[in-house]
This record gives sequence, C-alpha cells and structure tokens, in this order.
Amino acid sequence: FLVDKANYRHFMAKEIHEQPEVVGQTLARYIDTACQRVALPVKLPFDFREVRRITITACGTASYAGSVAKYWFERFARVPVEVDVASEFRYRESTLQRGDLAIFVSQSGETADTLAALRYAKAEGAHTLAVVNVPTSTIARESETVLPTLAGPEIGVASTKAFTCQLIVLAVLGVAAAKARGELSEDEEIDLVRGLVEIPRLMSAALTTEPQIERLASDIAKARDVIYLGRGTSFPIALEGALKLKEISYIHAEGYAAGELKHGPIALIDETVPVVVIAPRDRLFEKTVSNMQEVAARGGNIVLMTDAKGAEEATLDTFATIVLPDMPAAFTPMVYAIPVQLLAYHTAIVMGTDVDQPRNLAKSVTVE
Ligand code: G6P
Repeated sequence: FLVDKANYRHFMAKEIHEQPEVVGQTLARYIDTACQRVALPVKLPFDFREVRRITITACGTASYAGSVAKYWFERFARVPVEVDVASEFRYRESTLQRGDLAIFVSQSGETADTLAALRYAKAEGAHTLAVVNVPTSTIARESETVLPTLAGPEIGVASTKAFTCQLIVLAVLGVAAAKARGELSEDEEIDLVRGLVEIPRLMSAALTTEPQIERLASDIAKARDVIYLGRGTSFPIALEGALKLKEISYIHAEGYAAGELKHGPIALIDETVPVVVIAPRDRLFEKTVSNMQEVAARGGNIVLMTDAKGAEEATLDTFATIVLPDMPAAFTPMVYAIPVQLLAYHTAIVMGTDVDQPRNLAKSVTVE
C-alpha cells in the first residue's frame, strides 16, 4: 500500500512521531493487558530454563537494540548474553552450542550479514529467533521463531520507529525469560508489565521536547565533533545518538560508556565539543554526574537529557537540559531514544542534508 509523509516534511519526522502509536500496537500484541502479564504471540520451541547462553546479532541501529537487551536478559533472567555485529559474528567462529539461543534483530529482514549469521547459527544447532519488522522477509522465513515488530513500513533510511519497537519486543522477551527461569515473582512481573504499558504515554511526553531540541540543533550544527555519554542501558542509547547524528547530519559523533571518558575521550573535550549526556535518574545517576563534572571542568558544553529530579540534583551548569518524564528505570531506553532522534533530525535540517536519503547509505544492505 501507499505510504505517504502525511503532513510531515520528511518520512523520518513522521516515523519519529508515530512511535507512541506503533509501540502501543506492538505492546498490544505481546501483553495481556487484562491480567497484566507478558503473552508472546507464538509458542517458543525451547525452554528458557535450558538456555545456557544467548547471542544477539544485528547490524547498525538494530545492534544497539540488542545491546540494550543484554542488560535486560542478564538482569531480569540471569542468563549470559553476548552481543555482536553480524559482520563479526559470522566470521569469528563463535562457539555456539546445541541448545543455545541465537537472536537476530533486523528491520528489513534482508541484511546480508545478519542473514549469513543466522544461517551459521542454524548450522551450529542453536535455536534461532528473529525480531523483524518485515514478516515476509528472508530472515523471518529462515528463523525457527519469529517475533514481529509492528512498526509498519519504515521509509527513512535512518531507523527510528523500528528501533523502539525492537526494544519493546526484546523487553517482553526478557521478562518472559525471567519468568520461565523462576527469576521473577508474580508481583515483579506485574510491575514490569505496568512499566511497559506506560511507555507510549511517556514517549508522547518525550515528543513535547521537540521545540527546545529544534532550537538547540542550531548550536549542535556548528560543532565539528559531538560526544554522547551514557551508563547501563543508556550506553547503547548514547551509541545510537551518535550514529543517528553522523548518518544524517554528517557531523562526527562518538558514543562512549560514561565511565570510559577518562580513558581517552576526555582528551578531546574543550568548549567547541558538545557532550550529550543521557542520564535518567537511575541507580547510576551519581556516577554519571561525576563524569559530567569532569567535562564541565574542562569547559565542555553539556547537553543533559534527564528527568525532573535529575535536573534538580545535577547541580552543575549545563548548556541545555532536556527534561523527560519520570519513569521506572528499567525501560528508559525507549523514551530516551526520542530526544536523541529529534536532535539528529533537527541538526540535519539545519545542515540542509537529505534526511530521508543520506549520502552513501542504503535502507537495506543486501550485499556484504
Ligand atoms: C542499514 C540502515 C540502518 C539499519 C541497518 C540494519 O545500514 O541504514 O538504519 O540499522 O542497515 O538494517 P536492518 O534492516 O537489518 O535492521
């Protein structure tokens, strides 16, 4: 069917704004709202109690969804997880064992390296599970289990709504794994499910930061380099923020684990380098504040993405503070993805680049 831009200037803008809706649709497929339990749409052909190890493989933005999911699987379900980009996984002769679970994440379901990694895992005798947006794709057809994301067609080359829907499916799978492995009480499950159900509303609230981010973009557009920092599940969001900015605005950006700042990137900090810090007020917040102090002491311009309490408690001068809604710590990545997407989008607009079709990039990379 025909996909149009509705009233938006670009597909990317439309897709960013569609997220509360498509994330809600995806959640509806994976959660039994009446009894507040996770409910996968398919029966898994393996028992999570027997899974000794999970590998997650993907490319680009989808690989960052996998990196977030690692924190969830390890924390909720106490199962070891390895995450790798498909181009490395397929060639490094990973020691998969019969019965391991190999997860593949892909919007298109056609990415050549991810498909090759899937075939490798199958040949090694692992259970294969794909989180894909295109249900008729090759990766969907060849995987033992398919968990669809219901993002709808994504046209902008830089992935946005597929990413947040991938996060939802992986979060639900993490909760399902924890439950099956006896790591979660009924009350804990209900609590996590309540947290998930709130996400579309929180994403809508995050979208209201757009006018502020649009103003900020004119300053970011003057930078030659931008650094993104985060800890825990905010670390992959920092990586995603940097990827989004470089792919559509062509400004050099790097994401780092905030704790790694002093092991290299701090050498780059001066007043010309904006430092975007993704720091919801979770159990790691204090640690990230001390990293921000290190940045501030060197004249760096901090753009802090946090919640109201975080903004109040981080007593330091920031260049800008983007205040996001208060929410349970477990699922902040879906909500904090929005301001990093908006910052990349509006910076690209200021730069005058082709947002939906950035140079040298393809939506679906079907060659190695
Ligand atoms: C391309 C796109 C990215 C995407 C990656 C993986 O590089 O430009 O936005 O994240 O491929 O694509 P997939 O369809 O496998 O998610």
